[in-house]
Amino acid sequence: MITRRQFVNRSLAVTTGVTLTGTIQASLKSKNLPVAVSTWDHGVPANKEAIKILLNGGTALDAVESGVRVPEADPDVMTVGYGSFPDRDGHITLDACIMDEKGNAGSVSFLQHIKHPVSVARKVMEDTPHVMLSGAGALKFALEKGFKKEELMTEKSTAAWKKWLVKSEYKPVINIENHDTISMLAVDKHGNLSGACTTSGMAFKMHGRVGDSPIIGAGLYCDNEVGGAAATGHGEYVMRTLGSFLVVELMRNGLSPMEACKEAVMRTVRTNKDLNRVQIGYIAVNKTGETAGFSLHEGFSFAHSDKEGTTLNKADSYLK
Ligand code: GLY
Repeated sequence: MITRRQFVNRSLAVTTGVTLTGTIQASLKSKNLPVAVSTWDHGVPANKEAIKILLNGGTALDAVESGVRVPEADPDVMTVGYGSFPDRDGHITLDACIMDEKGNAGSVSFLQHIKHPVSVARKVMEDTPHVMLSGAGALKFALEKGFKKEELMTEKSTAAWKKWLVKSEYKPVINIENHDTISMLAVDKHGNLSGACTTSGMAFKMHGRVGDSPIIGAGLYCDNEVGGAAATGHGEYVMRTLGSFLVVELMRNGLSPMEACKEAVMRTVRTNKDLNRVQIGYIAVNKTGETAGFSLHEGFSFAHSDKEGTTLNKADSYLK
């Protein structure tokens, strides 16, 4: 009889062509730039798209945007973009942000009916004097920029919502409903760093709730002199420590990507008593292309890609 973990690993290998490693306890080194790192198993197809662009000499900014568009368009990834879990009123509301190597940032929150919020966030960054647009204003801007208004609910997301309505209990299940954000960081062959982050947020959240993902410094932060970091999991806990900014500042002060991700998780551990139903995880990359991931609970994975290929890595965690 095979164990659940062996079953998951085999299923994963069939769908992504990549098997999960054992627990990674130190930062992963890359032989050379470019490099890409992203959250969860759905990071594998996203990273494959990103590294293709990077190995062809593309920019980190193009790589992260194109990479995260892959799960945004995939209806089987039910925590990002098209076909996501809706909020408790049956609406899919999306949050995303992007940062480039010059420290520019763009973000959208509470955006409905647009399949690729990350690309709207990039337009906010490049075509407006603002960093964040929200709700109806973000939708209006997207339509003006030529994005198509679409129904994002699928049969599967509608069925999931109807099932949830029967009990209407809000008890997020860690590593399932929080199996959420696709966050990606990349360093291109010129050593420039960018990041992107996109999600439908917590499944069955209150209508109007916005998480960490579109908040610069919480869901994502990049500094071209130091490195980048991005978050996943319960956004409320990431927002309270401005977790991604914290990881980058810790790396600026000499910590490795792994040490910095761990310390950011520990800030949450030290200030919260009951973390049984909370998952948070961070990924980070530094300027030399070292990457890492670390989470509060076991179960977080991250994808790493360089010229040698793509690996899916089991992140080390505080609670085992
Ligand atoms: N980390 C995604 C969210 O909490 O919305």
